[in-house]
This record gives sequence, structure tokens and C-alpha cells, in this order.
Amino acid sequence: MSSRVSPFLQGAFTPLYTERTAHRLPVKGRIPPELDGLFTQIGGNPVAPPRRRGAEDYSWFSQDGMVCGIRLRDGRAEWFRNRWIRSRRVCRSLGESRPPGPRRFFTDVVNTNVVCHGGLLLALVETGCLPVRLSETLDTVEYSDLGGGLPIGITAHPKTDPVSGELFALAYSPLHTSADYLVITAEGTIRKTERIPLGGRPMMHDIALTEKHVVLFDLPVRFHLGQAARGRFPFRWDGRHQARIGLLPREGGAGSLRWFSIAPCFVFHAVNATEENGVVRIYALRYPKMFDGTSQDPFAYGACMLWEWTIDPATGKVTERQLDDHQQELPRIDPRRIGRPFRHCYGISAREQGLSTYEPEVLLKHDFARERTEERAFPRGSVPTEPVFVPRAGNGAAEDDGWILHFRIDALHHESDLVVLDARDFTGPPVATVRLPVRVPFGFHSNWIPDAELDAVGAGLGPPR
Ligand SMILES: [Fe+2]
Repeated sequence: MSSRVSPFLQGAFTPLYTERTAHRLPVKGRIPPELDGLFTQIGGNPVAPPRRRGAEDYSWFSQDGMVCGIRLRDGRAEWFRNRWIRSRRVCRSLGESRPPGPRRFFTDVVNTNVVCHGGLLLALVETGCLPVRLSETLDTVEYSDLGGGLPIGITAHPKTDPVSGELFALAYSPLHTSADYLVITAEGTIRKTERIPLGGRPMMHDIALTEKHVVLFDLPVRFHLGQAARGRFPFRWDGRHQARIGLLPREGGAGSLRWFSIAPCFVFHAVNATEENGVVRIYALRYPKMFDGTSQDPFAYGACMLWEWTIDPATGKVTERQLDDHQQELPRIDPRRIGRPFRHCYGISAREQGLSTYEPEVLLKHDFARERTEERAFPRGSVPTEPVFVPRAGNGAAEDDGWILHFRIDALHHESDLVVLDARDFTGPPVATVRLPVRVPFGFHSNWIPDAELDAVGAGLGPPR
């Protein structure tokens, strides 16, 4: 075991070992009454203090999923809850019986993202295991294959088309050399499944969507049997693999997928993609390398920067360039601009190169029209989490007319807040700050679930299927 305790067990990442419920949380400022819904964060948080705590032994990505949520309603912070996803390990530790439903994978840990679609509140994981259906109060209801249509779990970053409301998703497993591309209607019915041969086992954390295509990333981080056999994070850099981006027509089959070679890199998160006159532009956060065996820490592989790839399928020409010199992660845009031209993007950053995002200290707001980036800096020891943009209701609202919701974690004083910013006054005082009853751990992803979608979740919760 390495002597250095993993950074993912310290500071803002320090796990919580209890579940809490609190009502009527104290609020500074005024929560806009239009913010009626649930703010969630999910991440890896072991159910009990881990035995293997070393930097090279402890894998943040493999830990039990914990969901934290705050319900906002009528200008009040109605409740806070944090709940573990009831995996086999969590149930054993808590002395509970396991939830119903199929898993279809050897591990049933689900910890990466929470989305709401078709009346289902679903926790998702990178690969393999089926989604976990949650109640509107974050309890595990069941593992679900969506009525039999899901062969394996969809990845944690499906994309919702803002016009049709359909969900576009990828499902892959390191056990197979193919992926499944799925389209799920706004009502939650799987209407299209296409098997995509990959010729290997890449890690495919995210996809992007244009109005006509789904964008796939087939990059040199691949499943590694030796790592898996040693119980380590099972993906590793393979420099022999040609990095490539795939363009699949939304309604096309595997035969219409085209691959385009790019320079070696790794992408966890796409920002967005657009399409004009047949030319596709892809915006994503690019690492020069990832998981080459020197560290299990994704932040140890150089600064992550915003890049643009331009692909002209008619000529086959691909160009790529760095757009910005801030290191950054966890990019978010206005959900109404997914697959469409967009002007703003938000994310987390750190002041020092090399400090990386262990301790992000800055929130970013990019304005691509003005080629300007605003920085919202935090004092040392105070860490912001993924900034989620929530548009003000009404279709006429401009792209940055809304709010930014995120946690501020103060690891020194063991405090955390939910912070609401006016997205148009990005560096100004918060609109509202909600004091949470516990210091929440820094997680993977946050989301905002509007009240109307939560109502559908509650209405759909009869007896578990
Ligand atoms: Fe992610």
C-alpha cells in the first residue's frame, strides 16, 4: 500500500459516513420562487471507511454512489437529504435487503450522474450496470432496464434534445467490443437501438449531439484486463490506438457511422456540438493523456483545456485547436442550446497550473461571442462544485438569463452551502445561500430537476416493477 493517503479521501473530497435529513434550511438572501425543483449531486463515497486508503490503491471512481439533494419550493429550501445508492455492498453494510431489479453487470455500484426522463429519476454509472430508479426523496426504488429495453446500463451523460425532448444515449461495457446507441422518447419508450462495432474496448464517458448527428469519442483510454484483475481502475492509456471521433446520423444505422482521425488525447466531457452547412464543430475539454499507469488520479495528466474540432464530412478534412487557456472541468451550458449554436459555457477551474482540480478555486463563465471569460474566485479552502445553469422560465429568455447553482464546500470548517448566482451577474454577490446541515463531499455531477418532472416521478411510483 502506498504511504500517502489518497487526496480523494481528504479536504473537500472527505467522505460522509452518515445519511442525514433536514427540513427548513437557513437561507441568506432570497431564493427566486421560480426555482422550484430539486438540485442533486452524486459522487463516489464509500459506505464505510476504506481499508485501502493509499493514493495508488483508492479509486474514487469505484466507490459507492451517494446522492445529495436540496428541494427548493416557494422561495424556501424545503429539505436536504443525502442517500447512498443501495448497491450490494451498501445493503450489506447497512443491514438492509437488496432492492429489486436486474443489474446485468458484475458490479452494481452506480455513482456518476442523476437524470430525470420520462417520469423516471435515474442514477447512472459510466459503464455496465443498469440505472437505479430513485424516488423524489432520493431513496433507491429498483435497478431498471426500462421495461426490458436496456441490454446494459446507459452511460452517465445522455443528451436531451431541447426541441423533441428525446434522450440520446450510449451503452457500452468493457466485456464487449461494441456499443449500443439508443433513442428514448420524451415519454420514456426506447424507440431505436443500434449496435455499433468498435473493434476494441474504449472508455466512452460522454457523447455530443448536433441537430443531425451523434458524436462519439473513441480514444486511447481502453479496458485493461490486468488492471481489472488487480482490482484497480480497469481502463488504461494505449498509445497504439488511433484516436478518432465518430459521426453517426441520429436516425442512421451502424453502416452510416463515419470515423475521423484526430491527434492523441482524452476527453471526459464534451461541451457541445453544432452543425452548419454540413460542417460539424465539436467543443470538448481535452487532456493530452490519461491513465498511462503512472497514476490513478485523472488530474495528474496535465491541464485540461477547451478545444474545438471541426469536421467536414464532405471533404474528410479535420482541424483541431485550443480555444482557451484556462484549465477547466465539469462544463455546463444552457440545456436549451444542446446541439445548437451557443454563446456561454460554465465550469470549474484552478488558479495554479499543476494544482489541477483537486481544489478548484474558480468558477468560469465563457462568452464566446465577446471572446471573454469571467472568473469567480473563492478563498483558499473553499471549493466550488459543478456549476449548473437553470434558465429562467419562458422561451424568450436569453441564453444566460437564469441562475447558476452549485455547492461551496469549506473543508477547513466542515461546512457547505448551496449557492445561487444570477448568471448575468456572475462575479456579484450570491442571490441566495442555503446552509446545509453537513459538509457534502465533492462529487462527480450535479443537476437540476424542475418541479413538473418531479411530479411525474412521484406519480409514477406505484409498487416497484
Ligand atoms: Fe462525467
